[in-house]
Amino acid sequence: MLTKLSFKIGFLFFIFILIIESLLFFVLYTNIANGRIEDVLDDLLARANTHSEVLEMNFNESTLEHVGIMESASDFVVVVTDEEGKVINHSDTIQQEMRQVVEAIDYNSNQTEGRIVEDRWDDKQYIAAESPVNIGGEQRGHVFMFADTGNVKKNVNQLSNQFIVIALLTVGLTIITIFILSRFITHPVIKMKEATEQLSLGENQVELHTNRKDELGELAESITKLANELDQLKTARNEFLASISHELRTPLTYIKGYADIINRQDITESEVKEYTAIIREESEHLSILIRNLFELAKMDRNRFTIHREEVSLRKLIYSIANRIKPAFSEKNIAFSINCPENIVAFVDPERFEQVLVNILDNAKKHSSEGSNVQLEVSQMGEEVIVTTTDEGEGIPEKDLPYIFDRLYRVEKSRSRESGGSGLGLTIAKEIIETHGGQIEITSEPGEGTIVVIRLLRGGNNE
Ligand SMILES: Nc1ncnc2c1ncn2[C@@H]1O[C@H](COP(=O)(O)OP(=O)(O)OP(=O)(O)O)[C@@H](O)[C@H]1O
Ligand SMILES: [Mg+2]
Repeated sequence: MLTKLSFKIGFLFFIFILIIESLLFFVLYTNIANGRIEDVLDDLLARANTHSEVLEMNFNESTLEHVGIMESASDFVVVVTDEEGKVINHSDTIQQEMRQVVEAIDYNSNQTEGRIVEDRWDDKQYIAAESPVNIGGEQRGHVFMFADTGNVKKNVNQLSNQFIVIALLTVGLTIITIFILSRFITHPVIKMKEATEQLSLGENQVELHTNRKDELGELAESITKLANELDQLKTARNEFLASISHELRTPLTYIKGYADIINRQDITESEVKEYTAIIREESEHLSILIRNLFELAKMDRNRFTIHREEVSLRKLIYSIANRIKPAFSEKNIAFSINCPENIVAFVDPERFEQVLVNILDNAKKHSSEGSNVQLEVSQMGEEVIVTTTDEGEGIPEKDLPYIFDRLYRVEKSRSRESGGSGLGLTIAKEIIETHGGQIEITSEPGEGTIVVIRLLRGGNNE
């Protein structure tokens, strides 16, 4: 519970908000309370001043009495002393505390203005103001005004009670808000956590439905997408493993079968030669297959690096042609090249040669005697286009979308005879795409096949 995200977020929020609220309340409370007390003290002082002004005009018995009568009806107490502090009139009974205040002041100071002489409202029972009666520059007496602090205390208490209620309400509301808020954030996170747990347990179908358009919504979408991709990947891997084991099993069956035959007694020397040749051929296929698979695995793990350089395509193509021409002539296929002199591509020559050899090999394998195979290179703006055209058997439309898939062959048995493993085009596509180019195949069964490779010229122009 304590480690849960919702709790952590909520707790942190709560602490922050509590601190902010307490600060706000403290400032507000002290301001209001002080304001009220100041009002009371000001009022008290004003009253003392008024009385002393009245007495300054008429310092006699009847005015003194008048002042006393006025205050006896109010909540205040007035005490008037002569210049030496002797009480000459008062409105109510003089309490012990009042007497202390009256005795505490210095009667020798030539104070002319009224002032507060007791403001400790929370300790004392009375607060007090004093105003001297000055007549003709001489101090004739002092007016003391007292106010019971009970009222002030009651006022301030009321204020505190109100503040406590409001504070409790605010804290309550804050807690509820935080609770809802943290749920709102953590609920989807918990859902996603569960989904990824499912994923790691091997459950591939996770659906995180969410209409949220925020980051959490995006995250949920990414997880769903990832899960789907993982699912596809697993299916592809299983299919791939199935085909690989099939691919490996067939030549091994041949090898084992012919090895068994050779071991028999009743077999002629020429038969032994023939069968050993088959065994060698099959082993050769196997090692090519394994090498190709290894290459693909490297490409998958991005361990595959290309070393680009500026390559004259014409030179490269003619050197390939020289090597493969005998095989074409053997099958009586005419091979023609059309490549302008000056075309330079920024490619890895070895890899690019691998691609072209495989494509030309395919063209040769699937063409009949007497047909033509053409290789054409052209340049369009920044693009170099290499097109290979053959007049062979072509590829059925239903197979075209899968032609670049690993181990895919149109007619398994026939291409077996010609030694194909169905990896050539996969590797070619991988290489061309690593170069940032594209490879496309169009074909018409019975008419022929066209392979188009597009590359950005790159190099110095990049
Ligand atoms: N020019 C073509 N004409 C007709 N079919 C073709 C042509 N090129 C490719 N194909 C078909 O596409 C399949 C895949 O080609 P790919 O080069 O990947 O494999 P492969 O030639 O069979 O084996 P590998 O190249 O690994 O030795 C081939 O088996 C073949 O059926
Ligand atoms: Mg091939």
